[in-house]
Amino acid sequence: MPEAKISPSMLSSDFANLAVEAKRMHKNGADWLHLDVMDGHFVPNITFGAPIIQALRPHTEAYFDCHMMVSNPSQWVDDIAKAGGQMYTFHIEATNDPVGLIKQIHAAGMQAGVAVKPNTPVEAVLGEVAEQVDMILVMTVEPGFGGQRFMAQCLPKVEQLRKLYPNLDIEVDGGLALDTIDVSAEAGANVIVAGTGIFKAQDPAQVITNFREKVNQ
Ligand code: DX5
Ligand code: ZN
Repeated sequence: MPEAKISPSMLSSDFANLAVEAKRMHKNGADWLHLDVMDGHFVPNITFGAPIIQALRPHTEAYFDCHMMVSNPSQWVDDIAKAGGQMYTFHIEATNDPVGLIKQIHAAGMQAGVAVKPNTPVEAVLGEVAEQVDMILVMTVEPGFGGQRFMAQCLPKVEQLRKLYPNLDIEVDGGLALDTIDVSAEAGANVIVAGTGIFKAQDPAQVITNFREKVNQ
């Protein structure tokens, strides 16, 4: 399986000090930064969009892993690309033309990811979509909020995807912490998102190191 990438979710950071928080996570060993874009329509919460991502861009060299919890994902591709987004992960539930959207994301110069909510069967992304994306995100909570309980019942999707696509980046997001990393890594996840589990930890660097070891072992 591909090597570990640890992607702290800025949703749990101090929004008044995004640049400081991004630098803190880089220092703590984060590979990526997970940026949760929510439009108040696809999910019952609003966070931030391209202008904030663009403002953060000069303050860190971290790879920007943008999780687009939006109803019209094709609408924001160019804005996020211009803002410095590098992975553009859309929800399969939000589009009727995933293959066209993947092409649009690639044409904008970003990598493309596809996400599945807990109740969406993995079959929704198998085949052409899975073959064209750079990453599949298996949600382990209902998208919308940080700090929710990890849903282990989502892990069979990770297992199935890992068997079918040994070299693909498979990301898990929601409720990841020291007590849920083992089962996630065993199932085959290699990109680990954590908001509460990293930002609220006493020693975020230790959590990041632990996550990395569990995935790479
Ligand atoms: C939830 C977001 C997650 C969130 C995870 O909709 O997609 O990225 O920040 O938060 P934790 O790690 O606290 O469950
Ligand atoms: Zn997310």
